[in-house]
Amino acid sequence: MRQLIAGNWKMNGLGNAAMAELDALGKHVEAAKPACDVLICPPATLIARAAWQVKNRFAIGGQDCNAEVSGAFTGDISAEMLRDAGATAVIVGHSERRQYHGETDAIVHAKARAAWRAGLIAIICIGETEQQRDAGHANGICKSQIEGSVPPGATPGNTAVAYEPIWAIGTGKTATSPDIAAMHAHIRACLGAPLRILYGGSVKPSNAKEILALPNVGGALVGGASLKASDFITIVDASHGAP
Ligand code: PGA
Repeated sequence: MRQLIAGNWKMNGLGNAAMAELDALGKHVEAAKPACDVLICPPATLIARAAWQVKNRFAIGGQDCNAEVSGAFTGDISAEMLRDAGATAVIVGHSERRQYHGETDAIVHAKARAAWRAGLIAIICIGETEQQRDAGHANGICKSQIEGSVPPGATPGNTAVAYEPIWAIGTGKTATSPDIAAMHAHIRACLGAPLRILYGGSVKPSNAKEILALPNVGGALVGGASLKASDFITIVDASHGAP
């Protein structure tokens, strides 16, 4: 499968300025035909408008979903609603959801199944804290997050795993190439299916090429550097295509 370069806008993006960034990215994808799959996950308020703006030049996704189809869950959005708005993928179990919204592996597992039910690709996030890494527990933590969060039935077509060491998210501190390669090999060994394994955590134009060339790196999940089309385009172009 081709590498997947996914942007996670988090709680950023308003109207026309956001559409201008998406359009610039769309123009580039159309003209340069990059060797990778491209996805942007804007805030939920922009998904329908983004899907309209982008017109299938690249994919649009959600950042979270409720596990239920519909019902009394004020403020929540179902996978079916994301699909209805034009999304084809959804991030589940991002560390910010796990940390600020108390999402457990069991909840993430249910959300991944909900994504499949709606016909969305689930991007399931895992990753250790700095303290866990320093204590030598990174491999064990990621293994147990995979066992708890990735449902049976995951295939390369319906699921990608994103390894995001929490201490590397939004900090400018990227994991070293040997550490990324070692963890991705470990995750590969833990997974029952040949899923794409994305790296996330301070991916930027200056380090994307090196990271995307590492073995078992099936793409990147990019936060801060996905907000400006010019930065994100450099990362997209750093992909050599195949994982
Ligand atoms: P960052 O975020 O690229 O800003 O570190 C990555 C993420 O949280 O998905």
